[in-house]
Amino acid sequence: QMSSTVPKSSNIFWHDCPVGKTDRQKLLKQKGCVVWITGLSGSGKSTLACTLGRELHTRGKLAYVLDGDNLRHGLNKDLGFAAEDRAENIRRVGEVAKLFADAGLLCIASFISPYRRDRESCRALLSDGSFIEVFLNMSLELCEARDPKGLYKLARAGKIKGFTGIDDPYEAPLNCEIEIKELDGVCPSPSDMTKQVVAYLEDKGFLH
Ligand code: PPS
Repeated sequence: QMSSTVPKSSNIFWHDCPVGKTDRQKLLKQKGCVVWITGLSGSGKSTLACTLGRELHTRGKLAYVLDGDNLRHGLNKDLGFAAEDRAENIRRVGEVAKLFADAGLLCIASFISPYRRDRESCRALLSDGSFIEVFLNMSLELCEARDPKGLYKLARAGKIKGFTGIDDPYEAPLNCEIEIKELDGVCPSPSDMTKQVVAYLEDKGFLH
């Protein structure tokens, strides 16, 4: 089973290298973490990821963005949008994000990641408080009205099957670190969203 936590192979052994996460963090003068952005299509995940990435870069922090649409062109190009494919997508990305955090980077992951269970598995990989879940809590109405790629229109017309929010579920987080909400039906600006995340990272000591 793809999402199993038990390796398929036996006779494999874990090696520790002499240079560890702490050494790399000291070199980079930063603390590795994963900022996991989840929300409906069109809720502004990629925009926040890029704006946040730029802000962290400006502050002299090495950050790296992992984005759903982009990774589906490479690492995850063999995956579709069936539940088991989304689960495998998120499992792989969670593992990659963990590697980036271990490398000492501030990793920004931007994926619909609609299933709570899959997000919780990623959280479990980063058990030391370095998994920061950001929920872009924008209503379906707002996302559908924006429809930046015209996908909601296609989904409503039945031309895309299993579209998140239309005929596939989105399970909102129950315990996220940061919730970003629309105000009077309007989405906060990218810079306001970024400020909210940066304030959290500052507070938790990730930007010293
Ligand atoms: S997931 O659910 O986390 O595996 O999805 P993700 O890897 O983030 O990819 C989401 C982008 O794929 C496009 N797309 C779809 N989204 C949802 N449901 C269906 N059926 C679908 N088909 C294609 C869409 O452009 C998503 O991009 P965003 O940036 O979220 O709008």
